[in-house]
Amino acid sequence: MDTLATEKKAVKAVDSADFLPLKNWDHIEFYCGNAKQSAFYYQYAMGFKLTAYSGLETGNRERASYLLEQGKIKFVLTTPYHPDNFISDHIRQHGDGVRDIALEVDDAESAFNETVKRGAVPAMEPTKIEDENGFIIRSAIKTYGDTLHSFIQRNNYKGLFLPGFVDASAKAVQGIKDAGLRSVDHMVGNVELGKMNFWVKFYGETMGFSQLLSFDDKDISTEYTALMSKVMQNGTGKIKFPINEPAAGKKKSQIDEYLEFYHGAGCQHIAMNTTNIVETVSELKRRGVEFLRVPTTYYQELEARVGKIDEDVDELAKHGILVDRDDDGYLLQLFSKPIEDRPTVFFEIIQRKGAKSFGKGNFKALFEAIEREQEVRGTL
Ligand code: FE2
Repeated sequence: MDTLATEKKAVKAVDSADFLPLKNWDHIEFYCGNAKQSAFYYQYAMGFKLTAYSGLETGNRERASYLLEQGKIKFVLTTPYHPDNFISDHIRQHGDGVRDIALEVDDAESAFNETVKRGAVPAMEPTKIEDENGFIIRSAIKTYGDTLHSFIQRNNYKGLFLPGFVDASAKAVQGIKDAGLRSVDHMVGNVELGKMNFWVKFYGETMGFSQLLSFDDKDISTEYTALMSKVMQNGTGKIKFPINEPAAGKKKSQIDEYLEFYHGAGCQHIAMNTTNIVETVSELKRRGVEFLRVPTTYYQELEARVGKIDEDVDELAKHGILVDRDDDGYLLQLFSKPIEDRPTVFFEIIQRKGAKSFGKGNFKALFEAIEREQEVRGTL
């Protein structure tokens, strides 16, 4: 056997081994001013189910947390009981926003060690947390702004969610219909001017992700504003993090507006998959979720741009659903308006029909739609 060849092969295997194998999204935690009321929005408007709770009644003297689930999506809404803690500081600074993009792993200690060794700033040392249903191991590192990535190892836990949480079905609004949201597709971060490549390098070198796509200001600009974006994804392609930064334009971009109102970098939007966007969007609209609108001219040019699609174009036009095509297929998407008073976090509803991209062909129409909203808000 050729020893040198074997050695080379071995080295290659080590190189390509994923030092941070991520099983999936675990959950997304929002810090918010009034989790009890927000939980109603997610149930009534968005079709989530309230499934677990932690708070005073369960012995938690520090914070109340509500777990809301739809499909595989898990949102945790957390409100502090008192002012002298980091959660209150986070809310004062950012308003309601995403604190933690938690990822499920097989080994939370290794995830912590491997990323910290590569430069990640630690936020929580690997810690065993238990209750009568078993234990989890949790660790966390910092990412952009005040946002974290927790690593959750739950193979020894049989409870509903995390230790300390109890069944909340008695608190849940009864008779809420699912809106068809199935899983998290991607989560986008807005970072400060000049910081995109820093965070691209962080996801690349510290977390072992690779760069999927890159958009510069020529791709994403209108007459007035521009942004730059790079998409990072993990080894399995399940976890995708586009990172945006503002680019120079005549007026203030949506990214600048976000950074101004969030007071720093943070999660801009959460994209969630559906298998029937027309049904999902009409259901969400009926319940009061507000979406961006593109001009009707968008639909006159649609078939010429994306070719034949299964959906009825009039139906898409009625709901303002956008379409884009790439080499692998096409996708349908729609963006909500910000989901709180500060123009910061919003949702994307996406249905993928083969396409693996992010709707580049819609950027201009979408950006102009956002600018019309900014104009109304006086923040353009
Ligand atoms: Fe997106």
